Amino acid sequence: ASTLGAAAAEKGRYFGTAVSLNKLSDSTYSTILNREFNMLTAENEMKIDALEPTQNQFNFTTADRLITRANEIGAKVRGHTLAWHSQQPGWMQNLSGTALRSAMKNHITQVMTHYKGKIYAWDVVNEAFDDGTGGRRDSNLQRTGNDWIEDAFVTARAADPAAKLCYNDYNTDNWSWAKTQGVYNLVKDFKTRGVPIDCVGFQSHFNSGSPYPSNYRTTLENFAALGVDVQITELDIEGSGSTQATTYGNVTRDCLAVARCNGITVWGIRDTDSWRASGTPLLFDGSGNPKQAYTAVLTALGGG
Ligand code: G3I
Repeated sequence: ASTLGAAAAEKGRYFGTAVSLNKLSDSTYSTILNREFNMLTAENEMKIDALEPTQNQFNFTTADRLITRANEIGAKVRGHTLAWHSQQPGWMQNLSGTALRSAMKNHITQVMTHYKGKIYAWDVVNEAFDDGTGGRRDSNLQRTGNDWIEDAFVTARAADPAAKLCYNDYNTDNWSWAKTQGVYNLVKDFKTRGVPIDCVGFQSHFNSGSPYPSNYRTTLENFAALGVDVQITELDIEGSGSTQATTYGNVTRDCLAVARCNGITVWGIRDTDSWRASGTPLLFDGSGNPKQAYTAVLTALGGG
């Protein structure tokens, strides 16, 4: 296979990218998107502020275009994200207590119902853990009560039973970090008590502060052993040249080594599409040419 998506498919996996909907009119961008990827995530357009700018008034127009494009190219869609402390619309930021809890559940129900049957996996809850301690991140959602995460998952299962329900976070890649253990214990507890959860997303934004850890594969294996799928959901790797390429190859091999690792999504197409203000963290350069990192991933997938 000569593309990331086709090579991944031969291994029973997918290869995806974050998509910025306003770039679909860029022909270089669109050509690479259509050719290489078979899983799409909206970079911003399915977030809470985008879909529910006014309480209980939903705007699906832009996000629906992602579903259309996915259908046109035979790709699937990861939904991102239903409950998150960030990118909440102003009205939600101003809510608390039972009003906020109800609004969270209504958002989950309405959005998942609109997209019912069209989403491979939803990031039901995003980034709910604190970076340092391994405990919960303080947020307006957390202050509605510690059971807000399970409430979100139970609500999600009822809305679209066919979608995989994921918990998604960053800095959960290194098995020895407290945050990783915090999320692991949440998933273990959910599985023990029968709270619905199907997958854990590892964002995998690697840089000097949180580099690719040598125990990454161990982390994926340990979570999978709890009885959930694992997915690499927002991969980008700071650096360049052969060093960066080697790390991209290692991440790819780690996923392939774990039976329940369903696939990899990179967080953008060209370096110039990255959310990072500087650097060259992605697989294509600013002109859309494949980098060494691209070749390393394709080779690791068995393509070429
Ligand atoms: O579209 C507006 C534009 O009209 C306005 O002029 C401009 C001025 O700031 O802002 C533009 O919106 C920005 C948007 O990206 C689109 O470019 C927002 O300010 C900016 O906050 C937003 O950043 C996004 C960020 O999430 C917000 O939290 C990034 O694109 C997106 O890549 C990033 O993605 C997150 C994942 O959702 C969760 N995990 C971490 C990851 C990286 O931070």
